[in-house]
Amino acid sequence: MRALRTVEWLADTPDSPVPGRVRLIDQTRLPGELVWLETADVDAIWKAIQTLQVRGAPAIGIAAAMGAAAAAQTADETDSAPVLAALHAAADYLATSRPTAVNLFWALARMRAVGETNRALPPRALKTRLVREAIAIRDEDAAMCRAIGRHGATLLHDGDTVLTHCNAGGLAAAEFGTALAPIYTAHAVGLRVSVIADETRPLLQGSRLTAWELRQAGIPVTVICDNMAAQVMHEGRVALVFVGADRIAANGDAANKIGTYGVAILAQAHGIPFYVLAPTSTIDPATPDGAAIPIEQRAVEEITHGFGRATAPDGVAVYAPAFDVTPARLIAGIVCEHGILCPPFAAAIAALKH
Ligand code: MRU
Repeated sequence: MRALRTVEWLADTPDSPVPGRVRLIDQTRLPGELVWLETADVDAIWKAIQTLQVRGAPAIGIAAAMGAAAAAQTADETDSAPVLAALHAAADYLATSRPTAVNLFWALARMRAVGETNRALPPRALKTRLVREAIAIRDEDAAMCRAIGRHGATLLHDGDTVLTHCNAGGLAAAEFGTALAPIYTAHAVGLRVSVIADETRPLLQGSRLTAWELRQAGIPVTVICDNMAAQVMHEGRVALVFVGADRIAANGDAANKIGTYGVAILAQAHGIPFYVLAPTSTIDPATPDGAAIPIEQRAVEEITHGFGRATAPDGVAVYAPAFDVTPARLIAGIVCEHGILCPPFAAAIAALKH
């Protein structure tokens, strides 16, 4: 099966990755059009992250790393200081694009650390090293997603239907995604698995993106409105729930797209196992619990004027959190690249190598 190449680095010449640019699928145009954005401009990459042209925790981290590398390559080559200054300035700026997904900060910290460790390199070699690191972050994410797919697929049986919320598929990561990776893995070995995709108000990542990428792969998918999840569970149509995460705290509380917490409560009420699937780059041992996870507030127009027409009266009060936190007690397991973590998560997370 061909993987999506959601975010990648394009070199201008075949012999060196520098100079080059970031290429990403513009997810705001899906499902209508598959178009790519190509840029080496850090402002354009900040905007792409903020406006969800690129979205999903791992993909945001990769785009930010490549954005920082792209900014560093514009520095003059008198010595390594201007290269490092450009790197740090870009990292500071990109870190303001969205607050919740820890992958963004994880990737930028890794880029800064590689820059500092290699400050003795000649400027051109330092630039090349930074671009190679950003590419490595992408490639490692692809490998982590494949491992999550292998571990998660052990939870699936022939004929299972998995309910998912938002998009934690290939569009949200380097290749196969997290929550959808086991579905792709199972499908590839001939298991008949299907997906129920919550449409995911207000920006419809479920109906626009999850449904689009699963149909590209020939995997059966049914879109439901978010408020139908209880009914489809009650009707016995859901074997498991698989969701991604934007940040998992040290105790296992997991932030994901707004609405996920409600799905977890519904799953518990119906005796359906609820799994969170995420690479270790999404696990943040420095955040003790869900209460400490910063929750992004989005523009109210995304709710009142979502896709071109008013759906609420002008001037009405609106509350617009983009994420919620599912408490660890509602999570049956956390599937990461090392395997399936079982409760109690605090001990399992503490034992992980980050
Ligand atoms: O606002 P978004 O679309 O970036 O939110 C994305 C999600 O909530 C995903 O489920 C999460 O980032 C995991 S992606 C593998």
